[in-house]
Formats: sequence, C-alpha cells, structure tokens
Amino acid sequence: MRDAEYDFIRKLVYTHSRINLGSDKMELVSARLGKRLRATNLLSITDYCRHLQGPSGEEELSHLIDAISTNHTFFFRESPHFDFLRDHILPELGARRHAENWTDLPIWSAASSSGEEPYSLAILLAQTLGLNSAWHWRIDATDISNKILAKARAGVYREDQIKTLPRDLLRTYFQKGYGPQEGNYRVQSALLARIDFRQCNLLEGAFPYRHLFPVIFCRNVMIYFDRPTQEELVAKLTRQLVPGGYLIVGQSESLTGIRHSLETMKPSIYRKPVSPR
Ligand SMILES: C[S@@+](CC[C@H](N)C(=O)[O-])C[C@H]1O[C@@H](n2cnc3c(N)ncnc32)[C@H](O)[C@@H]1O
Repeated sequence: MRDAEYDFIRKLVYTHSRINLGSDKMELVSARLGKRLRATNLLSITDYCRHLQGPSGEEELSHLIDAISTNHTFFFRESPHFDFLRDHILPELGARRHAENWTDLPIWSAASSSGEEPYSLAILLAQTLGLNSAWHWRIDATDISNKILAKARAGVYREDQIKTLPRDLLRTYFQKGYGPQEGNYRVQSALLARIDFRQCNLLEGAFPYRHLFPVIFCRNVMIYFDRPTQEELVAKLTRQLVPGGYLIVGQSESLTGIRHSLETMKPSIYRKPVSPR
C-alpha cells in the first residue's frame, strides 16, 4: 500500500467513524483490506481506493469500517463492572426508583458489537430483578456496524463463544441447538425481547434516544478515538445520563487526561453529579 493510499483510507475511516488509525497501523489495515479486495473482485488497493470514490463507494464504506474495526467481545467481559452494577448501582437505583416514581430502567450498551455485552446485562438483570419485575428493565444496544448488529440480533453463539458462561446460566438462558444447529446456543426469547438493537454512530449527529439512562456501558470503543473525539463522546454520553447516572468505560480506557464533569467512583466507573458542578 502506498503512503498516499493509506492516508486516503485513514482519512475516510476517521471522517466516517472517528476511528483514529495511527501511522503504525498500515500493515494491519493492508491485511484487513485483503478480505475486501476478494469480496469486490478488485486486484489492487489502488483499484479499491478508486472504488471507494465511485458510485458504490458509500456502500463499500460500511464494509471498510467493518473490516477495520475490532468487534472482539465476550460474555461478562471485565466482570467487575457487572459485579458493581449488581452490588452497588442496582440497589442505589432501586432506592431512587421508589423516591422518584421510576417505572422503567433502561440501560444502554453503546458499541454492543455481536451482542455479548447486552445479553450479559440482560442475564444479570433477569437474575437480580427477575423477568416479571414491576420495574420494567430493558437494554438499548447500539453499534455502528449493521453487519455485527445482525449477528447480535440473532443471538446465536457457538460453543467456544459461550465458554466463559457458568453452566447454570447457560442452562437457564440459552437453548441448545440440535441437528444442523448442533454446537450452537441461542439466547432465550424472553431475553431477546428485552433488548432493542439499533444502528448508531456514536460520533454522528444526535443519539437516537429521547430518554435519559441511569446506566451507560460504553466499553472498549473509545480506545480507537483520539483525545478530542473521546472528550466529545464523553460529553455527549454525560448529557444522556440522568443526574446520578453511571458511565462505565473499558478497564483500559480511564478518562484520566480527558476533560469531563463526572465523578470517579472506581477506575473506569464514573457517575454524573446529582447537581451540576
Ligand atoms: C471491541 S468492540 C466492544 C464491544 C463491547 N462493548 C465490549 O466491551 O466487549 C468495539 C465496537 O465498537 C464499534 N464502533 C466503532 N466505532 C464506532 C462508532 N463511531 N460508533 C459506534 N460504534 C462504533 C465497532 O463496530 C465494534 O463493534
């Protein structure tokens, strides 16, 4: 790949997703583009760059972002976050619920990838509050990639993808596949029904929600953005939190060095002050 081609791809990816590809990522990008060259029957990166500028460029752009971005995730990833939600946040919100007459408990999994994070949240809420709780909980889940969202919506996982799940959770919340589905596990429909998946680029325009959230999980996506973009995103997410609401970021994504108005509860767990600072 020539420097000018890498520069073109880099700028395009940044403009569309704000994913910041450093100059050290050229080899990685080049390897990932191999897949797109095969899919588009193009012979060189030069042709591919031309294709991106042509009439089907816009459609190809979303495939390009898919090829570049990392969807890696797994059930109950960074489990202390789930423990904190169960042991501290839910009891606190439960007390507020009565005082402030809340009927709904919406939790947002922003950058939900293939669904393991929102399903883990749904399992935790089903276990803690039950499926028939009068406090109606649900998970709003978003990602920039339609392709990964389709996977998430299907809720079907291979054996190696559910290996981090304790057996009792697997038995309670998944259906084992038989015949052609042998080796696959499908999330129980009662959990599927609690999650609304929709496409959302976190850095483009307004978020697709009118309601505010008491809890937002936005984990392992900010790491791909530069600092001004991270600041912009944290400010946007903060506006989408109720006063006293929690923002949970990836464990390697501390907000140290970023200007924000949140209180630090623990590294990677932040809370919007109840009254503005
Ligand atoms: C590594 S996964 C994180 C999944 C999950 N949150 C976790 O921590 O395991 C990062 C996800 O961010 C998504 N993503 C990247 N840029 C985005 C953007 N600008 N807006 C929304 N999602 C984005 C990718 O499609 C990918 O699915």
